[in-house]
Amino acid sequence: MTELIDDYPQHIAVIMDGNGRWAKQRGKHRYAGHLAGVQQARNLIETCVDLPVKVLTLFAFSSENWRRPALEVRLLLNLFLLKLRSEIKTLHANQVCFRLIGDVSAFPDKLQNRVSYSEDLTQNNQALLLQVAANYGGRWDLTQATRRIAAQVAQGELQPEDITEAHISQNLAFPDVPDPDLFIRTGGEVRISNFMLWQCAYTECYFTDTLWPDFDAAALQQALHSFAHRQRRFGRTGEQLKT
Ligand code: IPE
Ligand code: IPE
Ligand code: MG
Repeated sequence: MTELIDDYPQHIAVIMDGNGRWAKQRGKHRYAGHLAGVQQARNLIETCVDLPVKVLTLFAFSSENWRRPALEVRLLLNLFLLKLRSEIKTLHANQVCFRLIGDVSAFPDKLQNRVSYSEDLTQNNQALLLQVAANYGGRWDLTQATRRIAAQVAQGELQPEDITEAHISQNLAFPDVPDPDLFIRTGGEVRISNFMLWQCAYTECYFTDTLWPDFDAAALQQALHSFAHRQRRFGRTGEQLKT
């Protein structure tokens, strides 16, 4: 069934989970799963460019993923750098605007430089905003927002009693982007794992057992179909929305 444009989420946020298990099922090293996962991310980005979706946020590396074995962390960061190098031209040609959200300061200089270069190169592109969340955590985001607000209070620019939800939203890592409409998590776990805690307050959640490297365009269509048939009430009653 074809959905109407209004039925599409403007912003999709994805926890791409299940790469390790995908590799294990095939008797391969976890890295093979990450490679296949990057390929699927590439496919998903291309699909979204052709859909009325405006923002795609992909969770690539959480602030907790540093706890993985050092070798896996190194391989993941290397893979990110390699793919950013090899893919940025295609992303740019497809009018994709790339942005990294997360604490980049912990990354090797080479990666930080590549991220800045990629952001600068693609900043005016309009087809899709691709946000890659790396060294990102919802708690980190809320903590850094709190620090900025506290600094404004300390400077006398803001009174504590004047702090509103808007102040918090405006001080998060990416204040110019609408909250996600649809949150997808692959890989069978039914948890948020410290993703966009504030921004997902009213996001529609879609969990699937499909492992990330298998999450193809048809799987995305199923998630979109599910989204299109939800009633988003934001606290109101169903009857109110019909009138
Ligand atoms: C998600 O896949 C990718 C990252 C967290 C970088 P996993 O690596 O978590 O895969 P599983 O959960 O072990 O299968
Ligand atoms: C969440 O996946 C982070 C990313 C996909 C980048 P994990 O596989 O690390 O999540 P947990 O730790 O099992 O919840
Ligand atoms: Mg996992």
